[in-house]
Amino acid sequence: MAKLHIMDTTIRDGQQSLWATRMSIGDMLPILPRMDRVGYWAIEAWGGATFDTCLRFLDENPWERLRSIKANTPNTPLAMLSRGQNLVGYKHYSREICNRFIKAAKRNGIDVFRVFDALNDVRNIVDNAEAIKECGGHFEGAISYTVSPVHTLDSYLEYGQALKELGADSIAIKDMAGMLTPYRTERMVKAFSAEIGLPVHIHCHYVGGMAPANIIKAAEAGAAIADTAHAPLAFGNSHPAVEMIVAALQESRYDTGLDLDLLFEIAEYWEEIRKRGHYKRGVSSLIHMQVYSHQVPGGMMSNLVSQLEIQKAGDRLPEVMREIPLVRAEVGYPPLVTPMSQIVGTQAVFNVLTGKRWSVVSKEMKDYICGYYGKAPGRMDEEVVKKVVGDSQILPPDVAPGSLVTTTYDEVAEEIGDLAKTEEDVLMYALFPNEARTYLSKHRTAESVDFLLEQESSGTKEDDYVDINQIRELTELVKNSGVGEIVVEEEGMRIAVRMPSAAAATVAAPVATAAASQAVAEPAPKKEAPKQDDSARPANWHAVRAPMVGTFYAAPAPGEEPFVKVGDEVAARQTLCIVEAMKLMNEIESEEMGTIREVCLEDATPVEYGTVLFYIEPITSGGSDVQ
Ligand code: CO
Repeated sequence: MAKLHIMDTTIRDGQQSLWATRMSIGDMLPILPRMDRVGYWAIEAWGGATFDTCLRFLDENPWERLRSIKANTPNTPLAMLSRGQNLVGYKHYSREICNRFIKAAKRNGIDVFRVFDALNDVRNIVDNAEAIKECGGHFEGAISYTVSPVHTLDSYLEYGQALKELGADSIAIKDMAGMLTPYRTERMVKAFSAEIGLPVHIHCHYVGGMAPANIIKAAEAGAAIADTAHAPLAFGNSHPAVEMIVAALQESRYDTGLDLDLLFEIAEYWEEIRKRGHYKRGVSSLIHMQVYSHQVPGGMMSNLVSQLEIQKAGDRLPEVMREIPLVRAEVGYPPLVTPMSQIVGTQAVFNVLTGKRWSVVSKEMKDYICGYYGKAPGRMDEEVVKKVVGDSQILPPDVAPGSLVTTTYDEVAEEIGDLAKTEEDVLMYALFPNEARTYLSKHRTAESVDFLLEQESSGTKEDDYVDINQIRELTELVKNSGVGEIVVEEEGMRIAVRMPSAAAATVAAPVATAAASQAVAEPAPKKEAPKQDDSARPANWHAVRAPMVGTFYAAPAPGEEPFVKVGDEVAARQTLCIVEAMKLMNEIESEEMGTIREVCLEDATPVEYGTVLFYIEPITSGGSDVQ
């Protein structure tokens, strides 16, 4: 059977690649019944970044979204993307949370689970695979494709074999950066078909434009399924257009059999939505196409450009571009996909901006080097490892990183308490505690406000004014809900009850431990960085300055003890604080032995490059009192 099957990615990867994942359920619903008639192998509808953007930006319940999609596509299997042990988040979750999450996704409408790990470390796939097999889903094991001296065809086949042993029903070649070329694709698909024997699913971002040729070569080499998106959400960083691939394969033995007229009808709908939302089309710019030369994915490039602009160093992009391959080689050639693209990219930025390579290292980079993300594909540079690891623990190779997370479902359920009404609510909280709490509180509060208004409007006409007790009740609601503000509109009157800004800020401010999950976060409410004048301090005090623009955190996590207090003696290379920048937690270390004389900032204060964080009085070999 040579026919090529098509998976549509418009409402997941398409919009994630081109619309910053801002497509709402309202945009999708009207067209889903027609998409359901097409005969796609599956519609990729959920997972990836859609879960957290639902909560963070769209005020949507991701589970409700999934159920409404399924209700409108009864004849087409739905697919989701899982980041393995990270599920749809940015850190490892426990085996129990993975298991329950996968099963919840299945019962809410997912049939096909595509699971990948950024490092192709099969230990990060095991818990997903087990749950998918238990609930009868289709387990698609995905290979994160990249190009490096250690990523050989044999290494991919070995990983494919490991996925097969976990029970994979199909294998996806996931080319997130658009680095595949037609003849590489052909070799890979042939080898996989011959040696692994599972259906091969080709996922190839358009980027520089080779994806259509790759898909055709893949079909000839025996691939079973290919990913596409509808034309208005295709091209550029997204996928090839379905209309194009279907037309290309007509009159061949790989003919998809899909109805081109129906596809164009659907495309016209998406074009209207695109115009209404003022979204740009996918285009192949030079910077994206250069992935064939420097191997830095386009999405990562745009991030770097904006990060450098925030650091007021936009002109240093060429240096950072030269630094990225060096850093990547030094840490064993991780594929540049989330989260490794951020971790490697940010390290390159630090190395360039500080002028001292590896002098500032994010906590995430340290964790990666210590093995907490999984096994690096290649060998790491020993000097770098020595410098970064210091006294930290390296994870023994026989310990799976995910096994260190032991959070149980019951613990999470107890923490969120009555706010969660269902297992889905609890899982939402397990993955995104801040966002889920805000969402659940807000929606519970909205119900309560309706209730209050109903009570009020049932009164007589004379009571038709705002009762002071009602305002008091509203105030209580706002206080207890964790949302910053409630606005009630009633018969032309508008009442806003707002938390004082400082208190509201603690609700919305990024939490130190969750910062890696701030990948698409809005900026936290800003406090003012205090004006600084160090002329008043003794001459022998040294200022510790912020090496980057970011946010100062005194403690490893909210509520924990600060790293240092006034009067503490610190050793050289001891951590003093965290500056969160470029979505990563960067530990700032003391350059010398000394006594902390002043902590200059409050917790969670934004800092500029060069802002003084601490004053340290150095301890010389003769002791601090001897000049
Ligand atoms: Co993709």
